Amino acid sequence: MHHFQYKADELYCEEVPVRLIAEKTGTPCYIYSHATLSHHFTTFDSAFTKVAHLICYAVKANSNIAILKLFGSMGGGVDIVSGGELYRARRAAIPPDRVVYSGVGKTLEEIDFALREKILMFNIESTQELDQINRRAEAMGTKASISLRINPDIDPNTHPYISTGMKKNKFGISADSALRTCEKAKTLKSIEIVGLGCHIGSQLTDVAPFVDALRRVRSLIDRLRQTGFHIRYLDLGGGLGIVYDQEAPPQPHEYAKALLGELENIDCTLIFEPGRVIVGNAGILVTKVLYTKRNQAKNFVITDGAMNDLIRPSLYGSYHYIQPVLRGVGETEIVDVVGPICESGDFLARDRGLPMPAAGDYLAVMSAGAYGFSMSSNYNSRPRAPEVLVKGGQYFVIRQRETWEDLVQPETIPDFLAD
Ligand code: LLP
Repeated sequence: MHHFQYKADELYCEEVPVRLIAEKTGTPCYIYSHATLSHHFTTFDSAFTKVAHLICYAVKANSNIAILKLFGSMGGGVDIVSGGELYRARRAAIPPDRVVYSGVGKTLEEIDFALREKILMFNIESTQELDQINRRAEAMGTKASISLRINPDIDPNTHPYISTGMKKNKFGISADSALRTCEKAKTLKSIEIVGLGCHIGSQLTDVAPFVDALRRVRSLIDRLRQTGFHIRYLDLGGGLGIVYDQEAPPQPHEYAKALLGELENIDCTLIFEPGRVIVGNAGILVTKVLYTKRNQAKNFVITDGAMNDLIRPSLYGSYHYIQPVLRGVGETEIVDVVGPICESGDFLARDRGLPMPAAGDYLAVMSAGAYGFSMSSNYNSRPRAPEVLVKGGQYFVIRQRETWEDLVQPETIPDFLAD
């Protein structure tokens, strides 16, 4: 479900014509629908109303502070993976007791920041990290709440780059060593183990791997409780997939039903870290056709949006549906939609059937709300695109387009090279 629909032959975001925004802000630009964002958050949240839970939105999926603020105002917390994400969350006034901190490589500076902010808990991923947090907490005269991220060794059947809960992945602590790690944690004065969790991957389109992982973590919780640990939180991570093309992922209520079936008498607050399922289909990337050209092998549609704006097709071979902002009568042709970057890997779609657009036409790259802007870069010295939030008949620029000046602002020419 999303609020990007045609009225007659013109694509709208809620009540605003996409063309209008593209003309005002220029292209490429990201457009998000407020109604879709709130609807997805509420749908996920209300699937778990029967149990104590906290939705910690995964900031990495889309980190704009206006979006964080929206979820915060709906009672959400955040899952962060860096000091920068914590900074964003605090700027968006997310209460620290709704922040969980994941990631295999937390630096000293980041740990100190999170301790100062008194976040809800650190999801730790190694014993060295546990020691490090203990030392820092001790130095600051505080106690750190810890949840152990378990690597349950489950194949989530997704793209290998985004599967995270298998032995060969760098994430988490194996179930075998979890008990030992907890025993060790008992000896550390400035650590309290309060939770257990897992996150097995992203864009999962089947509930079975979630359920398998949950069973493994649950049995560990039972064993830990028998040995005197007071486990209060169970963090089930994120990972629920969305429809990009022909996928049929479970709906949040189906996902909830499958999980809750395994959670009788668990007596824990459940934490979820959804990212993509909340924001993915709530955003599009709008790009303008600069040129078209044909050679013996291919038809190319060359757009002003490129892999630096949306890297998913280049990096994972991901599919994003592309449609014209103004529907015309163009014959459908098989085209490659490519950007201006100097690499053959720079494409938004390959061998795609598309009504052949003309130079100047706008195209909407759908389902770009998650891991779109947040993975964008300045490669080829391209300023990053603006982000626009639509609410009903109004729209708000929530991030300006970067300028050429922004590109060089942090750089300096050393004296020996100065004129
Ligand atoms: N929690 C943790 C610890 C994570 O590592 C992730 C995603 C999430 C939650 C949120 O997962 P989600 O609900 O969005 O699936 N750039 C890739 C996706 C990388 C996901 C990384 N971790 C992409 O564009 O597909």
